[in-house]
Amino acid sequence: MSLFAIKPISQIMNESEGGEHQLKRTLGAWQLIALGIGAVIGAGIFVRTAAAIAERAGASVTLAFLVAGIGCAFAGLCYAEFASIIPVAGSAYTYSYATMGELVAWIIGWDLTLEYAVGAATVAIAWSEYFNKVLQFVGVQIPFQWCHSPFETAMDGSGVHGIANLPAILILFLVTLLLIRGIQESAFVNNIIVITKVVIVLAVIVIGWGFMNPANHTPYIPAATTYTTPEGVTHPFGGLMGILGAAGVVFFAFIGFDAVSTAAQETINPKRDMPIGILGSLVFCTTLYVLFSHVLSGVATVQDFRTAGKEASVAYAITKYMIGYGWLAKLVTVAILGGFSSVILVMLLGQSRVFFSMSRDGLIPAMFSDVHPKFRTPWKNNILFFFVTAAFGGFIPGDIVGEMTSIGTLFAFILVCIGVWILRKRRPDLVRGFTVPAMPLVSVLGVFTCGAMIYGLGWTNWLRLIIWMVIGLVIYFTYSRKRSKLMLSCTRK
Ligand code: ALA
Repeated sequence: MSLFAIKPISQIMNESEGGEHQLKRTLGAWQLIALGIGAVIGAGIFVRTAAAIAERAGASVTLAFLVAGIGCAFAGLCYAEFASIIPVAGSAYTYSYATMGELVAWIIGWDLTLEYAVGAATVAIAWSEYFNKVLQFVGVQIPFQWCHSPFETAMDGSGVHGIANLPAILILFLVTLLLIRGIQESAFVNNIIVITKVVIVLAVIVIGWGFMNPANHTPYIPAATTYTTPEGVTHPFGGLMGILGAAGVVFFAFIGFDAVSTAAQETINPKRDMPIGILGSLVFCTTLYVLFSHVLSGVATVQDFRTAGKEASVAYAITKYMIGYGWLAKLVTVAILGGFSSVILVMLLGQSRVFFSMSRDGLIPAMFSDVHPKFRTPWKNNILFFFVTAAFGGFIPGDIVGEMTSIGTLFAFILVCIGVWILRKRRPDLVRGFTVPAMPLVSVLGVFTCGAMIYGLGWTNWLRLIIWMVIGLVIYFTYSRKRSKLMLSCTRK
């Protein structure tokens, strides 16, 4: 069978209707938007923004957010069209199976693990930073070794190395338990957290606006130079390359709006609600991000975010510069913990759904599409990804997993932009609940913008992406290809 054999869309739709693998349909448009915001506002804005300011772009991080937001808008439109035709679990993986064939579907499914699982690990590391901060407020301190990866060294000159990030592993464990219990309860908890998170972002923007120091915004785009991180990686800093690199870093803050599409099979009216959920959460978050990052880079200096303010950066900036607002730093810190938990939840949810679909297609073992008899959740899947994410979150630094997540997702977005275009050409007959305007321009611009961010992320990240993909291809050719249900059905005919 050809590597590019396509799974018929009618078959995809039939499979999603019924059988013991059926998931419950419980979500509406508002719940999807909440799910999107729940996934989107998190470590990207509260942790990665400071890294982008410190290592890549200074105040011009706001421009980076615009570049990333524009790239996401193009890809988001393409996601919305796909989701409105093929409203089943699995996200870009399912879409590409129907348009570009099994090999590309595998590549994208494997790549999405970078987005969802490694992304969840990144947020868990960020959770650990703020968890430490909360403990500090009550006079407790986790020893450096037990809240950092083995690749990190304390900045206080003591030379202490990390061993494992235990708080990161703890939060991944708790969220996994919640997911196994069921999506309806998870969505309810998520709604409360989403409201808190938005209020906190607005509070920092409104109150912080008065504490901005114009000197921190001068020049707004720093002159092009380089910066070497404590781990010894040198990036361009300032200028156009600084902005592109920063866009790749803060792109992390947008990841998740596409996770909404993975919940299509649990959506009551996916044709109408999917595009609303995806684009609604995207537009809302972009506006908040630009304002928030403008304030953050105005309140504290680049040097702060390179040194003492590197961890729990928002709380640090408020405590140091917004005198009289110590209570806000505490409130933000506690709220962020809840906010990050909701992001981890949606990412792990997306991950389990992608693996659910891949397993149903025979590309990975069948047990990963078993649904729990009582909770109706893919619980074995959830357990597997607890271990995978704990390995990343517990033992690798946040900068590395964060940038791996960004590059993996950007690559997936590019494939989606191309896929929707191919489907327009091949299957113009399909009924689309939502159609991307100005095709193929939107696809081309999506590929171009996401490609520019991949370029900006630099060769260390390109290399990691390539290694990840090579591992995936080895698994595909040694295991999945032989067991693919599509392949077996073609051979029988
Ligand atoms: N966008 C999500 C975050 O920033 C992944 O945490």
